[in-house]
This record gives sequence, structure tokens and C-alpha cells, in this order.
Amino acid sequence: MFEHDRTPVNPTANRPFEDVLAKRIERRTVLAGGLAVAAGSFLIGSPVTAPVAARTPAQTAVGGSKHQSGTSGSPKLIGFEAIPLDSSDKPTISPDYQYTVLAPWGTAVDPNAPGFVYPPKTAADQERQVGLGHDGMWFFPLSDKEYGNRRGLLCVNHEYGLTTHALGKELPESLEEVRIMQAVHGMSILDICQTEHGAWEVIPNHRSRRITVNTPVEFSGPVADTPLLANAAGNPPAGTVNNCGNGYTPWGTYLTCEENFNGYFGATDEWTPTEEQERYGFTTEGFGYGWERFDRRFDLSDPEYRNEANRFGWIVEVHPKQSNRSAVKRTALGRFKHEGVALTIGRDERAVAYMGDDQRFDYIYKYVSSSNCKHMLAQGQSPLDDGQLFVAKFDDDGSGRWLELTIDNPDLAARFNNQAEVLTFARLAADIVGATPMDRPEWTTVAPNGDVFCTLTNNTDREEPNAANPEAPNETGHIIRWRDSDNHIGTSFEWDIFVLASDVLDTEAGFGSPDGLWADPDGRLFIETDGDQPDGANNQLLVADTETGEIRRLLTGVPGSEVTGIAVTPDRRTMFVNIQHAGDGDPDLTLFPDFEHGVIPRDATLVITRTDGGIIGS
Ligand code: FEO
Ligand code: CA
Ligand code: CA
Ligand code: CA
Repeated sequence: MFEHDRTPVNPTANRPFEDVLAKRIERRTVLAGGLAVAAGSFLIGSPVTAPVAARTPAQTAVGGSKHQSGTSGSPKLIGFEAIPLDSSDKPTISPDYQYTVLAPWGTAVDPNAPGFVYPPKTAADQERQVGLGHDGMWFFPLSDKEYGNRRGLLCVNHEYGLTTHALGKELPESLEEVRIMQAVHGMSILDICQTEHGAWEVIPNHRSRRITVNTPVEFSGPVADTPLLANAAGNPPAGTVNNCGNGYTPWGTYLTCEENFNGYFGATDEWTPTEEQERYGFTTEGFGYGWERFDRRFDLSDPEYRNEANRFGWIVEVHPKQSNRSAVKRTALGRFKHEGVALTIGRDERAVAYMGDDQRFDYIYKYVSSSNCKHMLAQGQSPLDDGQLFVAKFDDDGSGRWLELTIDNPDLAARFNNQAEVLTFARLAADIVGATPMDRPEWTTVAPNGDVFCTLTNNTDREEPNAANPEAPNETGHIIRWRDSDNHIGTSFEWDIFVLASDVLDTEAGFGSPDGLWADPDGRLFIETDGDQPDGANNQLLVADTETGEIRRLLTGVPGSEVTGIAVTPDRRTMFVNIQHAGDGDPDLTLFPDFEHGVIPRDATLVITRTDGGIIGS
């Protein structure tokens, strides 16, 4: 739904991904001859199901011998009854599953917070309540025993709220109203537990808290303490905004990703964007939030706050269980429109992070820590503060290369003064090294066999049709998969297409605009959508078997909403999924989740369980 993601701001002539894809897909079409449609599900013609002899070298390399063995003899990964598309005003779920609602907008986070009132009365109230735009999230159990499956801290991003939805008016008319909007954004850390009736609830206590656009934050890594982040006003760093997807680390922290930060800035006076600002999409109007009219931080034309815009567009690390610790912006991971991050441990126990930059014709990135992440942590150093940043280049033959963004590259040294500039303006650095412009990279996830998946949600600016996808523009998106070399720390990879949404659009598992993505430890891939669905139906959650290619629909959302964010309890018998921007804020479309008691739709989390208590997705 976020139209702003769709505006291309990449002026380079780097070869678009569609050109590369076209070549690869021509071969794929041949393989897709034997598509099989099962009741309520669909077997994609993905390379994983193709005969070994028919594979290209790349497909074999990516699939590996494990894929070739098929699933005979092993239990089915996906056994639930799939559901049809749905357009009703309520979520629908497989008859093998059930859901309850948790933490809608306005839920008290602080013991002294008021309950939900519409519209919010004060910023001080909203700062102590759950925000809007529930997006990426993760669950951190408060016990490593069985109790940890029923009690934990749920970190939830609040990507955005429309002013019309949050305030019931087009524009804020005072600084206080801007502060309410800023408190709607950011993220929540919620102490949640399962009640004896089975439903979950937020416990408003000292662990539950908000991080908003005005919460003090810190910077670390190569850009911290450089002039790039300093303002003449001397204001300390504060806040996070447009927190989209997320990641989580083996050391127990949460990563929240700043995506369309540019849209919150505007100019009240004469202002000419720099080349860097243009590449990041800053304009006089922004997305029309109007914050700049009352809050100088967001006024691009205010010389006192010249570098405020450089303080956003980062990945932010949060320590859920340490409520006295500030959130930290990790600059070594680069500044762009961070959709999400998938963190894994590569060779030599290095931390490896895969990241998408969600804009038409923007890029996929990888970060590799400089050394063993356990050793770094033991020495008091964050593995996310010292490492190498790379950007992906996809070649026609199914191979790819990670191009390092370093000031040691003479081409980058000719444009930038130091590594801090390379990281702060990573998009421009990636343009220069010749990265492959992609179809809006959204979430990434790493499967247990090492395959990395990334959703490319759509790109209607695509101009060149090709044999495999005769539609130009690419309206429905796809999911790409790669296998990195040298256990995630190499500079090459082999890639293929896991699924083209246009291939499955007319099947019972039809979907468009894949976005949220999570691979579970068994080889299931959870796919969430945000965009046009077949028959104009509601967005949805599907489950794919990465071995067989089977896809089934588990859940559908409500009109005007996207389904996003995935978290599970350690036993994976409870899953949390978000309904974001229900009805786009319009009560005539849905009054989710309050319905007959509601006055306005509210973003909320769905808590999903199997009726037989089984693993989610099975
Ligand atoms: Fe925030 Fe690209 O979705
Ligand atoms: Ca969104
Ligand atoms: Ca998204
Ligand atoms: Ca999206």
C-alpha cells in the first residue's frame, strides 16, 4: 500500500534485474511444463521440483543434493487445510487453526496509561500506549523453560499511521498534534503472557515500553561522532521512524529497520536537495505529514538541522530485556531504506546480515562482521560495529557477486572522502560499483540449509517484457533464492527464482506482492503479502514447502490492510502475525478488531495456534 516505495529514485543505468531475470526465466519455462495443482494447494514449477537432468548448473548448485532427494518417506511439512481467498471484513484462517487478538493500537503499555480513546488526546498518553502500523516483530521468551512459551517480550515495529487515521484530520495543526503522530510511530516492547483462557495480553509494567520518534538513541560504528550526524542546533540524537521489517540476533537483541524515513521531512522555506538527498527521495512536501511546520528537526530548509536527515535510514539495535539501555543505530550496516534484516552466523562464527532496500530499482546488501561474533561480544565490541558492507550483482548465468562498498575502492574514493560517507550514502556507492537494480527488495530470510530468500514485491516501472513473464510491468512480484559461497562470508553466490507470483496467480494458492518472509527450522517458508491480490481479495499469509514447492493459504487479513510481521514462541506452537493499516483507517471498510464496539479500525497482532496444539505451518 505504501505508494512511496514505488517511486524510483535510482538514476543509474545499471542493468535492471528484469533483464537478467528474463534470460534465466526463459530456461525456467521449459522446466515448468509439469505443474501440478492439488486441492487447496499448488506445486510451483520451481527448480527444486525439476528433474536433475533438466537443471541448469546454477539450479543444481543452489538446490544442492538435499533437494534432489525429494520428500518420499518423510512426513509432509504442510498438512493443514488451505482456505480460499477472502474479501470479508474479518480475518479468516484455516479450519485447523484459530486466532485471538493482541495489542491493538492504544493498548496501555504503562501502568498509568489510559485505555484507548479516539482520537488520542495527548502525546503523553500516546507515548504510553501501543502505536500504529504494526509491522516487523520478534518474541523474546522470559524463561528458557516451558514457561517461555507463554511469557515473553514481544518487540513490535510501528511503521506508520496516516494522519487521517490517527488524528482524524488531514494535517497536524499544532506541535502537540505532531508529537501525537510521532508517538504513533517507532516501536513497542511488550511484556505479554498467555492467560488461563488461552488468549494473550499485554502486562503494563516496567518491562513494557515505547520507543518513539523522540526517544533518546545512540549511534555507533564508523559514522558515529562524525560531522555527518552533527547539527549546528546541537540536538542530541533522538528517535526512530518508519520501522518496517526487523531482525533478531543470537545474542538476544532486536533489530528494527528504518525504511521510508525521507517522507517525514519537508521544507518550509527555499531548499535545494543535494545529490545525496535526491537519491534518498527527499522532497519539499515529503509524504505530506507536515511535521516540518511545527518541528524544526524535520525541516530540510532549516540550516540549524542540516544533518538531521542523515540520522535516519539505519538499522537500530534494541536490548528488549534491558529497559535502561538506549537503542543503538548501527552505522556499519549502511544507510538506505531498510526493509528488514536476516542475521545468520557464517564461517568463523562471523555475523552475517542480509538486507533489502525497498524501492523500485534499488539493491540487496550483505554485511559481514570483521571476526568471530562471540569473541567480539566478549571483548565488549558489537559484531554490528566493525565489518564489511557489500551489495549484490546478479549475473545471467545464475551466479552473482558481492561488491564491497569500501573507500579502498578507487571509484568510491573518487566520489567520497571517507568510509563514513560511503556508509551514509550507501545507495550512491552501490550505484558506482554497479549493483543490480531490483524489483523492490523487501524481506530476507535464511533457511536452515543455508539458502537465503528475498521477496521482490513488484515493479510496475518495468518496461521490457520477456518470455517467462510477458507482463510488463511486473505487477505481482517474485521470490529469489541464493546460496552464498564460503558459508555466507564469500563474495560470490549462486541464485535462482523460487517462485514467480504470476505463475501461481490463477491457482488456489494465488497471491501477489510478496513482502514479509520467514523460513522456519523445518524448511517451511511463511510468505506475507502487501498489495493487489487475485480478485481484489484481502492480503494473506501462505506457507510454502521449500523442498517440494507446495504452497497453501493459511490466513487472510481484512480489507485495506496488509499482513506483516512474524514471530513465534520457542516451541513454534504460537505464532504472532500483524494486521497493518486495517481498512487504511476507514471504518466503512472494516472495524477490525473491535467490530460492533469499534469507532475506527485499529492495527493489531493476531496470535495463531493450531487447534491440535501442533507446530505452526504443519
Ligand atoms: Fe515497509 Fe517495504 O514495506
Ligand atoms: Ca507496509
Ligand atoms: Ca513491507
Ligand atoms: Ca510492501
